Amino acid sequence: MYSEDVSSAPEIAWADLRTLAREATKRSYAPYSNVTVGAGALTSDGKTVVGSNVENASYGLTLCAECSLVSDLIREGGARLVAVSIVAGDGKPITPCGRCRQLLFEHGGADLLVDAGDGAVPRRLGELLPGAFGPEDLGIRRNP
Ligand code: THU
Repeated sequence: MYSEDVSSAPEIAWADLRTLAREATKRSYAPYSNVTVGAGALTSDGKTVVGSNVENASYGLTLCAECSLVSDLIREGGARLVAVSIVAGDGKPITPCGRCRQLLFEHGGADLLVDAGDGAVPRRLGELLPGAFGPEDLGIRRNP
């Protein structure tokens, strides 16, 4: 159940992140699914970054809004993600797909707060992607 009540994390300007995400849905390219998605995030250096989904005639090549957001993040200097809101064209939060949970984990880790829109707002990414494989796993599992 979607809720506008984000009082559990008052230090994050969730309303502003949702506004950024909603505006980003207006710059989506989604002629195939007609599901526009936008994402807005706060970074550890106090910036905001955004992303929109970009579909392709070869459906599997579609870029999710979170993918576009990560691209914006790296282009802006690559700080850590602190909080992210992802919304669909109806303006309500949409839960990130599995691939995007992994993309977000790389840049925000388990403590990234996600406005997932299912009632428990916000949720830690660690709840959405428990036991995630991350960069540190590569370091300890590489062959000598
Ligand atoms: N989509 C996203 O942008 N992010 C997600 O986490 C879920 C799905 C997009 C991909 C596609 O353009 C549309 O939503 C329908 O799947």
